Amino acid sequence: MEERIQSLLNEVNGYAAGDKAALEAFRLKYVSKKGAVGELFEELKQVPVEQKKTVGKVLNQLKQTAEARLQELTELLEASPVSSAEIDLSLPPIPNQTGNLHPLSLTRYRIIEIFERLGFSVADGPEIEDDFHNFSALNFPENHPAREMQDTFFVEKKGAGSDQDMLLRTHTSNVQIRMMENQKPPIRAIMPGRVYRNEAISARAHCFFHQVEGLYVDKNVGFADLKQTIYHFAKEMYGKDSKIRFRPSYFPFTEPSAEIDVSCLICKGVGCNVCKHTGWVEIAGSGMVHPNVLRKCNIDPEEYTGFAFGMGIERVTMLRYQINDLRLFSENDVRFLRQFQNVV
Ligand code: PHE
Repeated sequence: MEERIQSLLNEVNGYAAGDKAALEAFRLKYVSKKGAVGELFEELKQVPVEQKKTVGKVLNQLKQTAEARLQELTELLEASPVSSAEIDLSLPPIPNQTGNLHPLSLTRYRIIEIFERLGFSVADGPEIEDDFHNFSALNFPENHPAREMQDTFFVEKKGAGSDQDMLLRTHTSNVQIRMMENQKPPIRAIMPGRVYRNEAISARAHCFFHQVEGLYVDKNVGFADLKQTIYHFAKEMYGKDSKIRFRPSYFPFTEPSAEIDVSCLICKGVGCNVCKHTGWVEIAGSGMVHPNVLRKCNIDPEEYTGFAFGMGIERVTMLRYQINDLRLFSENDVRFLRQFQNVV
C-alpha cells in the first residue's frame, strides 16, 4: 500500500493541467472522497493496527500534497494566457498607438532650427537660480520696482535683494549671464527653457511658460543686426506675409529696448482675444545689452556690444497653430495633443 501511495504522490507532483477539464479530472481523482486517495483511506481501515500509524501518516501527506497541488494548478491556469484554441487569428490586429511631440516642442525645435542656420548655438541653464543671475547681474537695482515686473516665486529668501536668494527663474536671461561669465565674445547663442512667474492663470498667462532668449555679443554689433535677425526669424516662422513692428520699451538689461509685435495671424488683423482686438501680438522683448550687464560679466563695453531678445514659446505656438487658450498646453488632454500627430 505504501508503494501505491508513493506512486500516487509522484503522479500528483508531476501533473500538469492544460485546461479546466484536466484540472477537474485531477480534483476527482486525487482530492474528492470518491477518488483514488479516498479509496486508500477506505483501505486504511483494514491495515493492521501496528502499521496504521506509519501508513496513515504518508497517506495524510499525500492528501495534503494533492490539495496544495490543486490550488497551485488552479492559480497557474488562471494566470496563463488563453490557449491557442481560443485565439481568433482572423481578427484584425490592434494598431500600435504612436506618440507625438507636444506642440511646444514642435515650436521649440523650429525656432532652434531657424537660429542654428544663422550660426546661433543652443545653451541651457538652471531653473532654480540665485537672485544675482536672475536680477542683479541684469542691472536690476536692489529694491527697484522693475523686479516687480516679474512676479517672482522665491524658493529661499535670505534678505531683501540679497544676491543669494534662491528663486524660480523668471526668464532665461540667467543663461545669458552664465554664458558671458564663462565665455569670451564672440557669443552667439539662443537659450530655450522653462520660466516661472506668479501670475493669475488665464487664456493668455500661466504661472509657468517657456522662453527662448537670444544673445549676440561681438565687436560692432548694432541695432540693425537685431532688426534683421528678427525680420528673418518672422519670415521663416510665420511666412512671407507676416508683418513685424518694433515698439520702444524698457528693460533694465537693455538700452535701447524694444518690444516686437507680429501681425495677428489668428484673425488676420480683424481683432480677436489673442491680439486684444489690436491686430498685433507681442512676441518678444529685445534691445542692446546694457553696458552695466557686460561689465558685471567682465566684458569691456568699449570693445564689445551686443543685442538680446526673448520670446515666449507659448505665444509663438498659439499664433502658429491658431490656438486661443494657453492653458491647453499644460492640461495634457489627449484630444488636444493628438491633433499634432502629423504636424511638423
Ligand atoms: N527677459 C525679458 C523677459 O522675460 C525678455 C528680454 C530678453 C527682453 C532680452 C530684452 C532682451 O521679459
